[in-house]
Amino acid sequence: MGIRSEGLLLIGPSRSGKTRAVWALLKRLHFQEERKIVALGPKDLKAAVANEWRDRDDDEPDLTSRLRHAGLLFLDDLDTIKFTEAVEETVYDTFEYRLAHGRPVILTLNQSGPELAGRMSTEARGEKIIGRMRESCRVINFG
Ligand SMILES: Nc1ncnc2c1ncn2[C@@H]1O[C@H](COP(=O)(O)OP(=O)(O)O)[C@@H](O)[C@H]1O
Ligand SMILES: [Mg+2]
Repeated sequence: MGIRSEGLLLIGPSRSGKTRAVWALLKRLHFQEERKIVALGPKDLKAAVANEWRDRDDDEPDLTSRLRHAGLLFLDDLDTIKFTEAVEETVYDTFEYRLAHGRPVILTLNQSGPELAGRMSTEARGEKIIGRMRESCRVINFG
């Protein structure tokens, strides 16, 4: 196991209070420290990935760098997103980079790691992504 950054993985069934718990934490953190928080639900992430391939304003940082460099990144219901090639690459890059740089991710999942890995285009990449999540996050079981 690598060094754990302070990430959190909240896992449990739908309606068990995961999103609510994370927002309560983010509100506290927002008032306690300066860290820039980026929070994305599955629809936001899907749209952001799709828009990367369209015309983009050059003054705006690209999605990769926003996801890499946010002081704190919250990805809500990450497993409900459709894992296209582009989404998988983005998610993998995000966890890989943030793990390497000790930057935390908070994420919520409704299904287990192996179930999630099985939905990705290749199981090998799914397992890599799950491995990065486990390595960088403390797992909290809900429900
Ligand atoms: N501790 C709590 N006290 C009261 N209501 C809660 C609590 N946690 C969650 N809820 C309510 O339960 C519902 C589901 O919570 P939510 O955080 O959206 O679950 P999840 O993200 O696990 O699907 C919401 O309507 C929420 O307001
Ligand atoms: Mg939720």
